[in-house]
Amino acid sequence: MTQTRPDLNLELQELIASMEQRREKVEAGGGEARQQKQRDAGKLTARERIAALLDEGSFLEYGTFTEHGGGALMRGVEAPGEGVVTGSGTISGRQVFVFSQDFTVLGGSLGKMNAAKVTKVMDLAAKTGCPVIGLNDSAGARIQEGVDSLSGYGEIFYRNAVYSGVVPQISAILGPCAGGAVYSPALTDFIIMSRGSSYMFITGPEVIKSVTREDVSFDQLGGADVHTRKSGVAHLEADGDEAVLRKVRELLAFLPQNAREKPPLRPTSDPSGRANTELLTLVTPDQRRPYDMHRVIENVVDDGEFFEIQPDWAKNIICGFAHLGGRVVGVVGNNPKYMAGTLTIDASDKAARFIRTCDCYNVPLLTLVDVTGFLPGVAQEHAGIIRHGAKMLYAYAEATVPKITLITRKSYGGAYLAMNSRDMGADVVYAWPTAAVAVMGAEGAANIVYRREIGGSENPDATRAEKIRDYKDAFDNPYVAAAKGYIDDVIPMEDTRRRLIATFTMLEDKQEQRPYRKHGNEPL
Ligand code: HXC
Repeated sequence: MTQTRPDLNLELQELIASMEQRREKVEAGGGEARQQKQRDAGKLTARERIAALLDEGSFLEYGTFTEHGGGALMRGVEAPGEGVVTGSGTISGRQVFVFSQDFTVLGGSLGKMNAAKVTKVMDLAAKTGCPVIGLNDSAGARIQEGVDSLSGYGEIFYRNAVYSGVVPQISAILGPCAGGAVYSPALTDFIIMSRGSSYMFITGPEVIKSVTREDVSFDQLGGADVHTRKSGVAHLEADGDEAVLRKVRELLAFLPQNAREKPPLRPTSDPSGRANTELLTLVTPDQRRPYDMHRVIENVVDDGEFFEIQPDWAKNIICGFAHLGGRVVGVVGNNPKYMAGTLTIDASDKAARFIRTCDCYNVPLLTLVDVTGFLPGVAQEHAGIIRHGAKMLYAYAEATVPKITLITRKSYGGAYLAMNSRDMGADVVYAWPTAAVAVMGAEGAANIVYRREIGGSENPDATRAEKIRDYKDAFDNPYVAAAKGYIDDVIPMEDTRRRLIATFTMLEDKQEQRPYRKHGNEPL
């Protein structure tokens, strides 16, 4: 509200009034009717989102009076705030930069000056070493501005890539995100979608219908369900804007401000020596009895709290953040409850991406292994499991953060290596007494190695059973690998938490230098 200040001289009063009127106009965005439409759709406005995201009263706006980039088709068009609100603020007292697309102004479409506002805060974030959070709700390239708007996207994509691994970048998708515009979020570290009110796709339902005759709704094509369960494009989802923004705040607590820092410590009252007795009944020696690796993670980490990433996609592998003794760790674990925890194309992609994210932001890695191998099958082979599995191997070998591997039960074949074995760069490898490290399971191994004896036997089934027993006696345990130094210690299950905390403490100041290169050629 404009305030009169009779104590000031008239000219200054007018200048202040003009500034305040201009600001009010910008803050009104596309006007009350469009804002109400936004609220009626269950969404917050661009400014309400910023208020919900940041610590109260911490927002500092930049580019407030920016106007659109002009051009013949923009003559007479008003765009208060240029369709995006940008600035800095704090989350739990830590500085962040934010841009919030304003759908009430020309559909939040992106033109030349809109992009300039966004790149300004991205550059400030990189210079000051702080995360960038994008709140996306836009109709895409501003049609009236033509190539200028495409160029604007280019300026943003370029920075998304150049600042990748420099400062954390998080994208909240809170409305439309279509066409080439999806590639800015896709170039960031994390995508969080609001269920039911957001979508992401390259070509929309109408174009798809005209080209392939497929009939599909916005939600079926690119809603939160699709991208958190099928495509793996998004990392998390939540019901409504406020829940999404809460998730952004929670996620940031696991990340450092930039690649030169470590994530913040979170003191805990959970004793570091707490015994994990529940594990003794959860994980039994029967290799065929599945269990949920989530229960193992929750039992071991501080306060049982696990922040899972991509929980509904490629469930055969689990990725997420937790604390151990107050320190953030990234956990990667096979989940025997789904597809026997085998490694698939999607599981490899999910894990590789998570490992690289942890490594670039100095998050130590804990790998929990219970895996029979890569999933066999023509479909997996033809879709490139070799190429995708290689990403995991590459990511672990490339990571220089502290890396601890714990083999809970099976660790067979190529998957033994893909789950960060000693040779792939694990700093310390532990195993439980229930562990078994081998080239393959006893049944398969006996059938291959003793084929002749089994075939030539008068009672092949009895001979097979005997050979399987022999093989199990020899290899179905952790001690062969421990004897050769591939496992550093076989530990009591109930001592897991204490051991892991003590070992991560030992690794705290780990340094690992690599030979010079421009950059590695990661398999893609
Ligand atoms: C400028 C746009 C616009 C656009 C919408 N508006 N899209 N203005 N450029 N791309 C304006 C509308 O004229 C309207 O203005 C306001 O935004 C809200 O739009 P509505 O259509 O009324 O909203 P709604 O019914 O909710 O539909 C939302 C929508 C639809 C589904 C997103 O607007 C739509 O399909 N827009 C076109 C999307 C698109 O094709 N974009 C280009 C994609 S190509 P008023 O004044 O009435 O409020 C692209 C390439 C990027 O983005 C390449 C990067 C490399």
